[in-house]
Amino acid sequence: MSQADDVERIFVQCTPGLEDAIEAEARVLGRAHQVPGGAVVEGAAGLHAQAALVLRLAERILLRLSESSIRSWAEVEAGLRRVSLAGVAEPGAPVVVEATLRMAGAPAMGVLPGLLERLWGRDVQRASGEDREGRAVRLVLRVVDGTASLSADVGGTLLHRRGWRQEVSRAPLRETLAAGVLALAGHSSEVPVWDPVCGSGTLVIEAALVARGVAPGLGRSFAAEMWPVAAEADWAGRRERLRAGVRPRAPAAIVGSDLNAGALGTARRNARRAGVLEDLRLERLDVAAVNPGALAPGLLVGNLPYGVRVGARGGLDAFDAVLARALTGPFRTWRRALLVDDPARLARAGGRTPDRVHRLLNGGIPVVLGLWEGTPGPP
Ligand SMILES: C[S@@+](CC[C@H](N)C(=O)[O-])C[C@H]1O[C@@H](n2cnc3c(N)ncnc32)[C@H](O)[C@@H]1O
Repeated sequence: MSQADDVERIFVQCTPGLEDAIEAEARVLGRAHQVPGGAVVEGAAGLHAQAALVLRLAERILLRLSESSIRSWAEVEAGLRRVSLAGVAEPGAPVVVEATLRMAGAPAMGVLPGLLERLWGRDVQRASGEDREGRAVRLVLRVVDGTASLSADVGGTLLHRRGWRQEVSRAPLRETLAAGVLALAGHSSEVPVWDPVCGSGTLVIEAALVARGVAPGLGRSFAAEMWPVAAEADWAGRRERLRAGVRPRAPAAIVGSDLNAGALGTARRNARRAGVLEDLRLERLDVAAVNPGALAPGLLVGNLPYGVRVGARGGLDAFDAVLARALTGPFRTWRRALLVDDPARLARAGGRTPDRVHRLLNGGIPVVLGLWEGTPGPP
């Protein structure tokens, strides 16, 4: 139940439906293979720090401390007694444990902290809900399907919190899902991007961060920066090298438009905090009026207003019909990507059946992403 010092193994968790995309993203870091809900990546020492700083799609990153096949709870306990926490927690420092125990003979959750305290000689609290703000190292114990693994949570607060989005509009998109939508849509920094329902600007700001080559973790800190191995992981050196690679400007136009002036104000402030305001064109426009004008064909992408979250359902049919006119008219040469709550809306809002569909979750709500290739020819 140990891993060689010079090789690290991490689990990078994503929104279900983004496994292919996160596997592709993680390949720059080492050997990666997808598993349900994410990808397992193996690479050189410090991998966990690099992953935290550069992966745009990861919701959470877990550094494996031990993993083994087990047949009985006694074997799990023997492994847990041997595992070293020295790299992630100071001697005697308290830890928080989040556990999934699916095995006959496993102890009740209520007694697990006491049992781990005896094995590790340190204070062990059971993780409660989504509270990740505490300073104690958070460990994740999984005993499922004959495998026991213990991991440490690299991020602390979930990774979609990049630091720049301190204000949201009424139905925001997580930064990680916005990055996932762009990845699935085949976003390229070299062509224009337009979000005609940009709200607080999540998609256009993520597009600008990609275009500028700004690593998503540069604007926040991570729990692992307080671990004993943090100095070896060289967070400061990694940040410096990543900052040196940032481009001065996005190479192509990035436009966000929305009818709601308040949402555009939020988008502007978020963009300023993210350091990409000068890369964006933010305009108050009804979808009926959007037109790419002289821009070269690029990617139109949007998270459409949802009946259950924004406004009344009755108005959505009219909205979809108006958007479809723009998408099959002035934007027909563009690649299009729409995120909706109801799959039936895709053909209505896109003007025809999408070429591809991906099922995803936005903050726990099932959503579908429809993708349409641009139609070649003059606009
Ligand atoms: C689901 S929200 C987009 C959220 C955005 N992705 C974010 O992260 O904040 C949908 C947006 O559509 C805008 N909207 C609704 N009707 C519109 C219209 N007719 N023209 C332009 N924008 C409209 C709303 O103001 C809202 O900001």
